[in-house]
Amino acid sequence: MTQQLALQAQEVRMLNERLQELNRGLEASIANRTEELKQSNENLARKAAELVRMDAARRKLLSNISHELRTPMTSIRGYVEAILDNLFATAEEQRHYLQLVLSKMIGLSRLIADLFELSKLESGQPDLHFRTVPVAVFLERTRQKHEPDVVHSGLRFVWSEDGLKGLAPHVSVVLDPERIDQVLTNLISNAVRYTPPNGEIRLRFAVRQGQRGGEPAQELVVEVEDTGSGIAEQDLPFIFERFYRGKDRAPGGSGLGLAIAKEIVTYHGGSLWVHNREGAGSVFGFTLLLYEETES
Ligand SMILES: Nc1ncnc2c1ncn2[C@@H]1O[C@H](COP(=O)(O)OP(=O)(O)O)[C@@H](O)[C@H]1O
Ligand SMILES: [Mg+2]
Repeated sequence: MTQQLALQAQEVRMLNERLQELNRGLEASIANRTEELKQSNENLARKAAELVRMDAARRKLLSNISHELRTPMTSIRGYVEAILDNLFATAEEQRHYLQLVLSKMIGLSRLIADLFELSKLESGQPDLHFRTVPVAVFLERTRQKHEPDVVHSGLRFVWSEDGLKGLAPHVSVVLDPERIDQVLTNLISNAVRYTPPNGEIRLRFAVRQGQRGGEPAQELVVEVEDTGSGIAEQDLPFIFERFYRGKDRAPGGSGLGLAIAKEIVTYHGGSLWVHNREGAGSVFGFTLLLYEETES
């Protein structure tokens, strides 16, 4: 009898232990599940915040675009109506206003082309045509293409390859020539616009040690330096944003040039930066990847 009682007590204890084990298991899986739910909740909250941010950015972009289109359209309409209403006494005067209409329309075409370009770049399907070009060829073409613009604007043009002394022979740069040309055109036309007469535009080239996939690799540094107004400290962090124009901006321009330049350089695996020069003026620089072998 006592033996049987003892056996039953033993069974109850074992059952109890098994129950407790089961309970512990359940608690652990509930804790796990709760943690999972908490994480997916946090993910959802993050995604929602991101969507709100993207929506705000899209709205701002749309309102910027409509503003940029409406302003010149309003003046074009005003001038054409005035011409049709014979508000101008002389043919000379009419001609002057037609010229204004034409320049506004050229500005609009440029803006639309920039917008189209930027949207292609940002869509992740940029349609780039990469070539392997010997550095010497790249330098020669760059100089031929951009020196005349600076000289015609009445500014001094300075070209420096001093930083290329350590460059091994037969080194090539991999780039889409048209796009990199566009980057240079944007940087140089800004430099020209923000530099007063008698100023100087300098193009500087250097080679420096960088990294590619964790391996040391050489990169080409291209700098466009001007002796102009420089960039206000409060504008510096924003000038690469779409439609951002500094507080002392020159007339004309849409604020898209630097955003486009940045996208293009990034697609080339390089980086683009700016700093103000001691004294006056600014320096924009970007990098391009260098490769030892020369192909076609
Ligand atoms: N070389 C420069 N010197 C001074 N300010 C500059 C220079 N380049 C760019 N900026 C500033 O950066 C802003 C953005 O440049 P960008 O994107 O090319 O637009 P945009 O030239 O159409 O105004 C300019 O409005 C100007 O405030
Ligand atoms: Mg510009």
